[in-house]
Amino acid sequence: VNKGNGVKGLAEMELPCVPKQYIQPIEERLDMDTVVTQDFIPIIDMSMLEDPQVADSICDAAENWGFFQVINHGVPLDILDDVKQATHRFFGLPASDKLKYSKENSSTNNVRYGTSFIPGAERALEWKDFLSLFYSSDQDASAFWPPECKDAALKYMKTSEPLIKRLLEALMTRLNVKEIDESKASLLMGSKRINLNYYPICPNPELTIGVGRHSDVSTLTILLQDDIGGLYVRRIKGDGWIHVPPIGGALVINIGDALQILSNGRYKSVEHRVVANGRSNRISVPIFVNPRPKDMIGPLPEVLESGEKPVYKQVLYSDYTKHFFRKAHDGKETLDFAK
Ligand code: SIN
Ligand code: FE2
Repeated sequence: VNKGNGVKGLAEMELPCVPKQYIQPIEERLDMDTVVTQDFIPIIDMSMLEDPQVADSICDAAENWGFFQVINHGVPLDILDDVKQATHRFFGLPASDKLKYSKENSSTNNVRYGTSFIPGAERALEWKDFLSLFYSSDQDASAFWPPECKDAALKYMKTSEPLIKRLLEALMTRLNVKEIDESKASLLMGSKRINLNYYPICPNPELTIGVGRHSDVSTLTILLQDDIGGLYVRRIKGDGWIHVPPIGGALVINIGDALQILSNGRYKSVEHRVVANGRSNRISVPIFVNPRPKDMIGPLPEVLESGEKPVYKQVLYSDYTKHFFRKAHDGKETLDFAK
């Protein structure tokens, strides 16, 4: 049925109810009674970074929330608009054009169009289509990334670099790391991937999920979302889930598993998920800032200097991600792989 046009194609059929493969078991749906409305993740003004309190609030947010939003972050707002437009342009293509980038057809492993997370492993499919772009070089990106989005995606990736460096510098200071030298730069931001996510209008948002519970495997994730909303984050302090409200021009930052491991558990990668929307299509564009695949990751020596016991062992980052991508979204258990 409508093969190749993903969940978007399904949504366009205007079915009265989602096909049964998309109906989530009750425990995977977001129970609105568990949503806490009096709490918000921090909002940090990056233009004030000279103020030591700002660096402190970045580290506090990474320890106590795992998620925060940044404003005045230095990524030009027209570039954010361009990448949102490019996302709509790509998903608006005829199915046959998008299918050139599917697992079966793609001429490169660095570009992948798909629907759901790991369709073969999930109990119920996620209500989402995506395009995933692994960055290996400018030449590779310009040769292989889809023409509808490559310029905008590359610009977004490049202009977010100063922000990424400033965030990591602030976070490293509290870990006793004085300088991000070449080997630290590799561990913290040696490779990058950008995803374009498309969540079509869903006839039964309460029965489905856009993205299931997971924490990211990155060191940091920079997330651009549009004005629809639907991203929920698990609270570290206290139970329940908090909505991440769309703020025009802001970027959402979250800590990933790799940084939780490198910081020996001090900075937390927290579970999050996306609820589908009954009235609007939603897009989001995360940049995953990762170690290099061949890096060994484990608690940084600077963190253990004071005699702290290592909570995690050293693991090959590509083994860690392989482990994550073998199974469906089911929460934070991936981290046990590094225990
Ligand atoms: C994700 O965490 O996988 C997606 C987040 C979002 O779409 O807001
Ligand atoms: Fe995520």
